[in-house]
Amino acid sequence: MLLHFGNVPMLVVSTAEAAREVLKSLDHVFCNRPHRKMFDIFWYGSTDVASAPYGHYWRQVKSICVLHLLSGKKVQSFRRVREEEVVLMIEKVRKSCCDSKLKPVNLTDLLSEVTNDIVCRCVIGRRYGASELRRPMSELEELLGASVLGDYVPWLDWLGRVNGVYGRAKRAAKHLDEFLDEVVDEHVSKRGHDDDDDGDEGQNDFVDILLRIQKTSSTTEFQIDRTIMKALVMDMFGAGTDTTLAVLEWAMTELLRHPNVMQKLRDEVRGVAGDRTHITEEDLNHMPYLKAVIKEILRLHPPSPILIPRESMQDAKVLGYDIAAGTQVLVNAWAISTDPSYWDQPLEFQPERFLKSAIDIKGHDFQLIPFGAGRRGCPGIAFAMIVNELVLANIVHQFHWEVPGGVLRDQAFDISETTGLTVHRKFPLLALASPHM
Ligand code: HEM
Repeated sequence: MLLHFGNVPMLVVSTAEAAREVLKSLDHVFCNRPHRKMFDIFWYGSTDVASAPYGHYWRQVKSICVLHLLSGKKVQSFRRVREEEVVLMIEKVRKSCCDSKLKPVNLTDLLSEVTNDIVCRCVIGRRYGASELRRPMSELEELLGASVLGDYVPWLDWLGRVNGVYGRAKRAAKHLDEFLDEVVDEHVSKRGHDDDDDGDEGQNDFVDILLRIQKTSSTTEFQIDRTIMKALVMDMFGAGTDTTLAVLEWAMTELLRHPNVMQKLRDEVRGVAGDRTHITEEDLNHMPYLKAVIKEILRLHPPSPILIPRESMQDAKVLGYDIAAGTQVLVNAWAISTDPSYWDQPLEFQPERFLKSAIDIKGHDFQLIPFGAGRRGCPGIAFAMIVNELVLANIVHQFHWEVPGGVLRDQAFDISETTGLTVHRKFPLLALASPHM
């Protein structure tokens, strides 16, 4: 389907065949990102990976992400961080059960804290309070969800100045920038004191790694400066936290709505870990049903139902249609992953469908592309999946969960969604927890 948003031709892709064309066969044509004013404001003139235009610069920063920040080895190195944060999360639930068995746990807050704290510790080395990071990031999310008319009708750009959207965005971006400057300064002075971490990326957070790359790259190589560093750190927060939270929130929502699935998952998890107090990352290798539950969530509730927009760099033919250079592309991943031509009972939550299926989420099977595909595909799959699996397994292992009665029951079962780049539950998820005997 071709639409026109103001002056911009917009191709909407809603079938796996068309997605394969755009994200695989013609990936070299459709691998640009459209310019967005908000990305410029928050991501230092779009110098991050996700919004940088395709080209030499983007290749350099993407390879830093893939090779140094989000490689399998690096993700593995954060195991202790994940396990510690999950233990803390379990303690919080336990404490709230002890305080009052009848007081529901706000799962939205709990899951938001654990995902934020894990990402924070991996990216910038320690946890930060809500006012420093979480609140400005929520404001950023909200502003990104707002349509900016000037992106589509350039002569109406002044409206963004008049209605105060740009002003709000600039204030929020300044606040985040000051925070990131402090973080980088702290890391620089720490390195000054104990300059022994070169060469070993094992224990370092992302800022440490970026500083090391900055220090060791020769003058002929790509140079990272402070601005690029901050743009990359912002990418990790922007792309990594909310998406991971959305998966967990929807997973608990569907499990509460489907007690038989919750029971089956609990049986699997308890079968592997027994009465041990915590699930370890090794345990996850023996939990095929857990993996099927998470895939089913990514199918039914992809955190970015419309993938981050692409833009074509030259004229192309897609499934026989002529598409002009400069056309923007919206891939509707949700329409594809709930299309009855590929999926049986597509709107039903049935994790079993993945137990005997080889369909994966990594961008090779175009009927399921929650992480996108091709050159611009998500580099954070391994980082996100291990957090999702570990948190969900532990939460189900330790507690029996049920929905409260009355209004809260209606709210728990209400699956209305928010708007924005990442789609969340509209209402917070509250549930009653009781510890397993
Ligand atoms: C469940 C969690 C996640 C989902 C569903 C998700 C989804 C996506 C999607 C749909 C894209 C666009 C792909 C495309 O254009 O083809 C993307 C890009 C990206 N994601 Fe993720 N993501 C997740 C977690 C993460 C994490 C944890 C990180 C990093 C810590 C991350 C970093 C990025 C970056 C840097 C890009 C831009 C890649 C580029 O433009 O080259 N994501 N992600």
